[in-house]
Amino acid sequence: MLDGRVAVITGAASGMGLATAQTFVEHGAKVVLADIQGERGAAAAARLGDSALFVRADVTSAEQVESLVRVAVDTFGRLDVMVSNAGAAVDLSPIDELTPAGLDRTLALNLQAHVAAHKHSARQFRAQGTPGSIITTGSVAALQAGWNGGAYSMAKAAVLALVRQTAMENRGTGIRSNAILPGAVLTSIITDMFGVSRDREDEFLAGIGDRIGGETLIGRAGLARDIAHAALFLASDLSAWITGVALPVDGGSTAVTKDATVSLITEFATEFHTRS
Ligand SMILES: NC(=O)c1ccc[n+]([C@@H]2O[C@H](COP(=O)([O-])OP(=O)(O)OC[C@H]3O[C@@H](n4cnc5c(N)ncnc54)[C@H](O)[C@@H]3O)[C@@H](O)[C@H]2O)c1
Repeated sequence: MLDGRVAVITGAASGMGLATAQTFVEHGAKVVLADIQGERGAAAAARLGDSALFVRADVTSAEQVESLVRVAVDTFGRLDVMVSNAGAAVDLSPIDELTPAGLDRTLALNLQAHVAAHKHSARQFRAQGTPGSIITTGSVAALQAGWNGGAYSMAKAAVLALVRQTAMENRGTGIRSNAILPGAVLTSIITDMFGVSRDREDEFLAGIGDRIGGETLIGRAGLARDIAHAALFLASDLSAWITGVALPVDGGSTAVTKDATVSLITEFATEFHTRS
């Protein structure tokens, strides 16, 4: 599905980014994996062979994001896909305790980095005179409160506007921008949030998977490869007429209300009629 295509994937040392890199290479792409985790990223690229190159980069630096595009072009000759995926909760403070510095740090990673990825990949696509696909990992936290901290949710909500705006500004060029909104997916982002050591990560994630699977309509928690498959579709020509959208990949979590209001009303109505 991606024969001859070249992609940059940020946050590719772990979780969804890593699964996306593996999937893209399986489908014929050349991939630049970028992450701040040097050892994990280098090991991942080595496992993927000649089709992959790891670059240690901090996406909160716009210059480093720009240089990722340059590395892709210098190494593999072009750029076709940008997967702007790196992210983390950063600051979990409730809004009434959130500091300007905490909000800034959260936005630097979860919004500014995506803006830089859009800017530099779209410039490269235009310079090449080719179509291109920009895919951003957002979150269901953009749609509903309660999935993560407020600062993170605000950043993820802003991603929706970034994607639509970019789609509009690139009308008629074949340059597309779409977001994937994952639900709860079993990756290191969760173990990092709860201070779980790497050696006990699998055990912890299996435990969460058992607890939360039933909260989805599909009946299981998300896996990194579920997101990678959505990214493969959005990177490929199969999605050639799709731009400016935000695709929830959440096992159906956001399709239904978690709120118990309707069952409470039903219970009350039953009691009410029994009483009268
Ligand atoms: N796992 C979930 O439940 C979930 C749900 C919704 C959205 N997301 C989003 O999915 C994306 C991928 O997260 P994941 O779940 O695979 O977690 P993960 O922790 O496994 O992967 C995130 C990667 O991003 C990297 N990263 C963090 N800061 C960086 C920086 N400044 N520069 C470069 N790389 C950096 C990390 O080192 C890590 O390898 C994130 O944007 C996250 O917000 C995750």
